[in-house]
Amino acid sequence: MDNSLSAYTQKYEKEGYGLQYPDGHVIRFYERILKYKLNKTSGNLLDFGCGNGVHSKYLQDITGGGYKAYGLDIVPSLKEIWERDPKLNSNNFHVITPNSSIKNLFNVKMDLILANQSLYYLPFESFKHTVQELYDICNEGAIIFATMMSDKGYSMYERGEIMENGLCEVKECPSGRLSGSSFIRFTKDIEELKEDFKPFKPLFWGDYELINLYNFEGSVQHFIYIGQK
Ligand SMILES: C[S@@+](CC[C@H](N)C(=O)[O-])C[C@H]1O[C@@H](n2cnc3c(N)ncnc32)[C@H](O)[C@@H]1O
Repeated sequence: MDNSLSAYTQKYEKEGYGLQYPDGHVIRFYERILKYKLNKTSGNLLDFGCGNGVHSKYLQDITGGGYKAYGLDIVPSLKEIWERDPKLNSNNFHVITPNSSIKNLFNVKMDLILANQSLYYLPFESFKHTVQELYDICNEGAIIFATMMSDKGYSMYERGEIMENGLCEVKECPSGRLSGSSFIRFTKDIEELKEDFKPFKPLFWGDYELINLYNFEGSVQHFIYIGQK
């Protein structure tokens, strides 16, 4: 079984994983970039690696239904969570086999792609293929917001060598918060970030720390990429 699939199945089914409220960087992306800078507050939104759909719901709500949410994830049991949620149209949410093609999943073109903390689980070849497919299913002018794990992130964890597929094993951390291993592709710097998201054109980029507790698990710095078709 794919490593991320088993790890996230355990998290969602046994540990009640998933945010109930949107993350601050997604709120700021909406307020500062989508609304203020680009004036793009409606259209079809694809939430890649959507989890429980918290960010799809947020963008739907804050735009008064301007954004219509579509989503996908790899964990089969999320289907029940989407179905139980009165704010989500679960027909628009799909469970996929990890790293499989997404080009025929939706019968609409997208105006916004949101990939919050999900694309760094993909081996590099699948990542490149997925970025191209995301590009292909977008309307002209569509925006992509994606976050990638910085090489500085998880620096206190023990890391294996970078494998041929670009992923790196991240072993248990001193705080003990993550048991077992995760397989993540780390991004070195902003230039690599821009290169990886081609053919999207970069509009804005930067980084955020979810929380940086020096003597707990150290930095969890993520890069932010905002691009356009
Ligand atoms: C850190 S969680 C983020 C969830 C959600 N995007 C959010 O912001 O709340 C990572 C998500 O990526 C999903 N994921 C992991 N590997 C994936 C893959 N290969 N393709 C799609 N989703 C994946 C996981 O199941 C999980 O829901």
